[in-house]
Amino acid sequence: MTRPVVFVGRRIPQVGLDILAQHTDVRVHSGALPPTRSELLTGVQGVDGILSLLSDRMDGEVFDAAGPQLKVVGNFAVGFNNIDVEAAKQRRIAVGNTPGVLTDATADIAVALMMGAARRLKEGWTAVDQRQWRTWEPLGWIGLDMKGKTLGIIGMGRIGQAVAQRLHGGWGMQVLYTSRQPKPEVDRTMNARRVEVDELLASSDFISIHVALNEGTRHSINAAAFDKMKSTAVVVNTARGEVVDQAALIDALKNNRIFAAGLDVCEPEPLPDSSPLRQLVNCLLVPHIGSATVTARNAMAERAARNVVAGIMGEPLPYPVY
Ligand code: DGY
Repeated sequence: MTRPVVFVGRRIPQVGLDILAQHTDVRVHSGALPPTRSELLTGVQGVDGILSLLSDRMDGEVFDAAGPQLKVVGNFAVGFNNIDVEAAKQRRIAVGNTPGVLTDATADIAVALMMGAARRLKEGWTAVDQRQWRTWEPLGWIGLDMKGKTLGIIGMGRIGQAVAQRLHGGWGMQVLYTSRQPKPEVDRTMNARRVEVDELLASSDFISIHVALNEGTRHSINAAAFDKMKSTAVVVNTARGEVVDQAALIDALKNNRIFAAGLDVCEPEPLPDSSPLRQLVNCLLVPHIGSATVTARNAMAERAARNVVAGIMGEPLPYPVY
């Protein structure tokens, strides 16, 4: 009997490939870089399932290139803005993601970026690297305190809550947040307050972005939003680069409208060499490594693979998007 075939967008942790290999023939795109569009369209031909990466756009063209036997797309990520879910629904293709397992890893990176941006680690590191560190500087590289400050969480889902727990519990921060739904448990355990976004922007010392990317959130942190922030604000984005209007962010950082930014994500990724964000000393940028721990990536591989196998078997996905 012929076995179902799965296309995997790039090499992922072995645990995921092993799960797939028990049930399917696995076709892994072997390059270090994502498949080009034409490699993707060719690679998926005839497959029953796709284990996709956030760097690959999954839309009707890809689904049609795969063929009518395609049953499932399992994203190796919690975010699924790279997938045209409507196009998948129309073709009765199941879509899964990997919620929960990268919450702690991503929250840790958000806190690291917040501290790094507040304490000017990029400038300090650059001074060391470029041999400009001549002495202990009584007035040099002075940053911001974090203890007891106000934290604004935009999007109080799992990761937003994990960031708030760390900073409320560890640094005694007062927590404000935006959310479509009230979160009584969050209010109670962290003495947090759900507010309108304008109040959050105006009152927060540290702002951490945790909303999913969709048409409602795209470029929602724009020039008007930066204008409402404190000039000492630090903005952290570990969600998706497109939530922030990057031109407005560059402007705000250049003109010291805000103190600093810590970014795990940007638009596009990777950031072009020519982007001013690379040069700005008050922008601490890392290459989308929020989930890059052994535990998180192994668990993501396992969940994505289980979604794909379930979809191929015609069973409900353990971690469905819809
Ligand atoms: C996700 O899972 O959406 C993350 O961005 C991956 O790091």
